[in-house]
Amino acid sequence: MALQLGDVAPDFTAESTEGTINFHEYLGDGWGILFSHPKDFTPVCTTELGEVSRLKDEFTKRNAKVLGLSVDSLESHNGWVGDISDATGYALNYPLIADPDRKVADLYGMIHPNASDTLTVRSVFVIGPDKKVKLTITYPASTGRNFEEILRVLDSLQLTANYSVATPVNWHEGEDVIIVPAITDEEAKEKFPKGFKAVKPYLRYTPQPNR
Ligand code: BEZ
Repeated sequence: MALQLGDVAPDFTAESTEGTINFHEYLGDGWGILFSHPKDFTPVCTTELGEVSRLKDEFTKRNAKVLGLSVDSLESHNGWVGDISDATGYALNYPLIADPDRKVADLYGMIHPNASDTLTVRSVFVIGPDKKVKLTITYPASTGRNFEEILRVLDSLQLTANYSVATPVNWHEGEDVIIVPAITDEEAKEKFPKGFKAVKPYLRYTPQPNR
């Protein structure tokens, strides 16, 4: 069965462009973003990997480590990294896992045989400090992802892990959040001293509590 939210992210040991990595050990107490790309030396993947390098500091600020993966070999990855830098202006600054025997791809269900039985799809797994899967997304090979969206989701996940709030549509860091319905108005007055605005009894906005 496919990996679902709340499942423990399977651990693995694999070769990468930064040496041998034990996944859980590598993540330590922080967050993890494991993403697959279909194939080395392909155009969309090249743009994505450069973009993740550009955003690396933003992931680090959020205590999150990123790891890329495809079913290509380490030799292939190492041959490609120079192109990523040339083409995007950003040198690879996070590990790219080599998975030629598809060990990790199979553990995470990154090959969707009805799309392609040889390439990984564009999967993203966000993993929390408890090693549980917090978010999954899957894009086809033809569509590059928006990694700013992954940062936005990470902000939401980190906030909602610590406060009794949820984030509304298109929310960004710093904007008002929603008090979860399980909290009564009385409790909300105590928990959210900045106050709240009830648009409906079940839709109550409050300023972001950790700012
Ligand atoms: C790409 O990254 O451009 C790509 C990879 C596999 C299939 C189609 C496009």
